[in-house]
Amino acid sequence: MTVLVTGGAGYIGSHMVLELLEAGEKVVVLDNLSTGRRAAVPDAAELVVGDFGDETLVSELIRRREVEAIVHFAAKIVVPESVADPLLYYLNNTASARSLLACAVAEKVRHFIFSSTAAVYGEPEQNPVSEDESLKPVSPYGRSKLMVEWMLEDAAFAHDLHYVVLRYFNVAGADPAGRSGQSFPNATHLIKVAVQAALGLRPDMEVFGTDYPTPDGSCLRDYIQVTDLARAHMAALRHLRAGGGNLTCNCGYARGYSVLEVIETVKRVTDVDFGVRISGRRPGDPAAIVAANDKAREILGWTPVHDNLDEIVRQAFEWEKKLQAEQAAR
Ligand code: UFG
Repeated sequence: MTVLVTGGAGYIGSHMVLELLEAGEKVVVLDNLSTGRRAAVPDAAELVVGDFGDETLVSELIRRREVEAIVHFAAKIVVPESVADPLLYYLNNTASARSLLACAVAEKVRHFIFSSTAAVYGEPEQNPVSEDESLKPVSPYGRSKLMVEWMLEDAAFAHDLHYVVLRYFNVAGADPAGRSGQSFPNATHLIKVAVQAALGLRPDMEVFGTDYPTPDGSCLRDYIQVTDLARAHMAALRHLRAGGGNLTCNCGYARGYSVLEVIETVKRVTDVDFGVRISGRRPGDPAAIVAANDKAREILGWTPVHDNLDEIVRQAFEWEKKLQAEQAAR
């Protein structure tokens, strides 16, 4: 029996593949390498290059490898890009996910773990936000993911399919052993951008808005370390295999940092004082969003161990240096 990991050559998926292999699982990765890297997939996992929306390919793969569980990471993930090109997000994140689900149902795959997002809440009325808060995504990205949550709920009601939806907050950091990290070159995510500024790979960086109703005026986010997040998926897989019910859980640390606090942390940890420009708000950004994580802790038995912004920043910095050294060696 095999676990199929879509997007397993990407940032979060590759950390999940490491966890699965360490647990002795058989793994097949399906990734079109649009943002993922071949090198991120260890030899112990089979890599199939292709689209998760390709029903012929996916059905054949499920049969050939006797796939028992699908962990679905592959997605477009940049909020401002989704505002600029919404139909791309609905095609990739929503329509192709429907194809993947159809294959799972037709081929009788029983377990499905889905990467959802804090963006499904939009601008929450209160923080920390719990899973039963109202869902009002403000970006096409958030909507493209919420529709998949609904499809899963309906498909699981109609068929012998069992799921865990994990709503990620702001994923950051890298494998503590330095085996993987955020490698996509055109980074837009805050910690990666700041670390690149510290390394002189950018002349400076921007803060998108300091006029939000938050303590220092910049946006508040809950930064979760990527290995902790991968372990939440391992816990979700154990939960499903033990016959646990369908579940939707936040993945975050229940603690928010402002954009300005993150930048200060990056400057302190790297010991580099880089330029920071204050610019206008970025479309689609909620002012503040912080996870309530009681459900993941209580039902999945998830206990984070890397809940430390300095550590997360240090990991991101070390990984970025490694990427640069690799590129220089080419
Ligand atoms: N930011 C800057 N400058 C930058 C980059 C980001 O000021 O160069 C700010 C953003 O405006 C935002 C915060 O830093 O206020 C975090 O932005 P990111 O782009 O790092 O992440 P997002 O909060 O936009 O998105 C993340 C995840 C999504 C998830 C969303 C939920 O990537 O998958 O959080 O809020 F949906």
